Amino acid sequence: NSSLKGRSFLAEIDFTEEELLYLLDLAADLKEKKKNGIPHRYLEGKNIALLFEKTSTRTRCAFTVACTDLGAHPEYLGKGDIQLGKKESVEDTAKVLGRMFDGIEFRGFAHKTVESLAEHSGVPVWNGLTDMWHPTQTLADLLTIQEHIGHLRNVKLVYVGDGRNNVANSLLVGGSIVGMDVRICAPQSLWPAQEVIYLAKKCSDQVMVTSSIEEAVAGADVIYTDVWVSMGEEDKFAERIELLSPYQVNMQMIKETGNKDVIFLHCLPAFHDLETTYGKEIYEKYGLREMEVTDEVFRSKHSKVFDQAENRMHTIKAVLAATLGNME
Ligand code: CP
Ligand code: NVA
Repeated sequence: NSSLKGRSFLAEIDFTEEELLYLLDLAADLKEKKKNGIPHRYLEGKNIALLFEKTSTRTRCAFTVACTDLGAHPEYLGKGDIQLGKKESVEDTAKVLGRMFDGIEFRGFAHKTVESLAEHSGVPVWNGLTDMWHPTQTLADLLTIQEHIGHLRNVKLVYVGDGRNNVANSLLVGGSIVGMDVRICAPQSLWPAQEVIYLAKKCSDQVMVTSSIEEAVAGADVIYTDVWVSMGEEDKFAERIELLSPYQVNMQMIKETGNKDVIFLHCLPAFHDLETTYGKEIYEKYGLREMEVTDEVFRSKHSKVFDQAENRMHTIKAVLAATLGNME
């Protein structure tokens, strides 16, 4: 599929259903090659910049390992390492990086930053998460659903929790493009922005946004949640706990789906126990031992979260290979 060559991936809407499905097939093929030790160095000799304004485990590691497996050199440029946005404009940084690197990954706050990098660098730019979208996450989610359920069309995916964050936006639009039945279940003040619902509705007539758990989860194939407080909005803890406590994914909710084979997904990191210092701080302040998902569900047979995390690497590898690789 040479149509992807040279293109950026800033949001799901940048690619058609056919292109997204092609990337999933390519990811499955590259996953197979990796498992069998078959080389796939489609990016031999290339240099990739990895820009991170926010912290990351999965995205950073997935891009790094994907680059290395593909034969490219990844260069990590963290917050505080370069002049971006402080001593130098995004436009000038983009122009410089584009003269040296063959492609740029960006994770950060404003979506317009990644758009500006794509506009001015002259090389493919991949969004590793902004406040608005998390498209490489969606690809991993879709691959995981395909592996466990066998197909995507009409799969009933219910996203429960903060319906306005990057992951919710991405699932709503990305899932709709590939013909899934996506339902956002959230208190009304956390429903997706009108423009996001509009984009999803342009791709699908199955879009549902509701505050009713009962209505949303009946017959669900996938229950998905994410943190109640995303990176950059740490001041919103008290208000989110108040709003979202009824939307915690627990065994009661899993039972309410009426589907014994329902799978549970979470982009991670997840707050499901007190095993982190962060968790302990929240416990001391708000008395919560678990937030968006109970430990019981997180560790249950329904949970495929670590397959999902692994798939970040295979799907990101597919995006890099398709947009920048020598695939012939
Ligand atoms: N899911 C995800 O993007 O994880 P990181 O924040 O660890 O990259
Ligand atoms: N919504 C979360 C996703 C983390 C991968 C955040 O933006 O912090």
